[in-house]
Amino acid sequence: MKKILVTGGTGFIGSHTVVELQQHGYEVVIVDNLSNSTIDVLDNIAKITGIMPAFEQFDLADAALTADFLKRNSDISGIIHFAAFKAVGESMEKPLNYYRNNLQSLINLLEGMKTNGISNMVFSSSCTVYGQPDELPVTEQAPIKQAWSSYGNTKQMCEEILRFTTLAHPIHAIALRYFNPIGAHETALIGELPLGVPNNLVPFITQTAIGKRGCLSVFGDDYKTPDGTAIRDYIHVVDIAKAHVVAVERMLNGKSKLDLEIFNLGTGTGFSVLDVINAFERVTGEKLNYKIVPRRPGDIEMVWADTRFANEELGWKAEKNIDDMMLSAWKWEKALAEKQSS
Ligand code: UFG
Repeated sequence: MKKILVTGGTGFIGSHTVVELQQHGYEVVIVDNLSNSTIDVLDNIAKITGIMPAFEQFDLADAALTADFLKRNSDISGIIHFAAFKAVGESMEKPLNYYRNNLQSLINLLEGMKTNGISNMVFSSSCTVYGQPDELPVTEQAPIKQAWSSYGNTKQMCEEILRFTTLAHPIHAIALRYFNPIGAHETALIGELPLGVPNNLVPFITQTAIGKRGCLSVFGDDYKTPDGTAIRDYIHVVDIAKAHVVAVERMLNGKSKLDLEIFNLGTGTGFSVLDVINAFERVTGEKLNYKIVPRRPGDIEMVWADTRFANEELGWKAEKNIDDMMLSAWKWEKALAEKQSS
């Protein structure tokens, strides 16, 4: 059985990916410092798959701890590296925390891969590297523009670190540029767990509908889009998770064509904020309290993915639609509320 290290494996995308890996016959070891997740995610993964993943809690930005871990686990076939800070707003207040954490953890992992002969990494990147693209849908060849946040800049820099490191050493990497991952596992046992007030749209929608928040603020209706609200490419987290299994298999089967390959993970369809609200209301039957407020600083107007390269070359395609995303996110919010009230 091939062993995969999943860093950040108790987080939102990480936990869904662990489930998919286990269901595809991989042995998983998770490293997470639990800075933005909780330990009971492990039990919930085990409830879904019947297998408790191995787990170690430490900070990958610590070079000595990471080196020691990889020395003890040199039989790992590949690493999926999710662990990172990801709040755009916070990254503007504490840029050095973002550079230190996101860059250092990647460097420490790559150093350990080099030392221990581990040759495959899948890296969590983001469509944020494109900024506001000149042409839509955006392809992987679109120019990388000046970042809009230090968070986004860490993703750009990490891709560059991967480019030169995979060139110099026998390491292969696949960077997956996620668009807007939302939704939750169909069992409602795992999902997104925002601590405090959510920054992202869908957790804010579900928390408003369940009564945790009074009113959703829609940030801006004066964009140059059909209804004036900003457009994104929302994608179901389980589709994202499945893409990681495909990427791991591609590397393990020696099918990578370049030392570093980059793929967009989106559906190829853009939805405005009002489209998402309407879809949520339609599929759940809930009425959402919302108001239009000024634009959020740093937001781009619109982005959606050109998915052809991922579809044709990676051999992966998003399968779930906006209704699946809304229903699963709502089921998860209701399950959380039940857990908290019991
Ligand atoms: N929005 C609202 N109200 C809210 C929250 C969001 O109207 O309460 C709007 C935003 O203005 C934006 C859209 O909903 O137009 C989506 O916002 P999110 O915060 O959910 O997602 P972003 O597109 O801003 O950010 C996501 C990821 C980032 C990543 C970025 C790249 O969360 O990690 O995409 O574009 F950097």
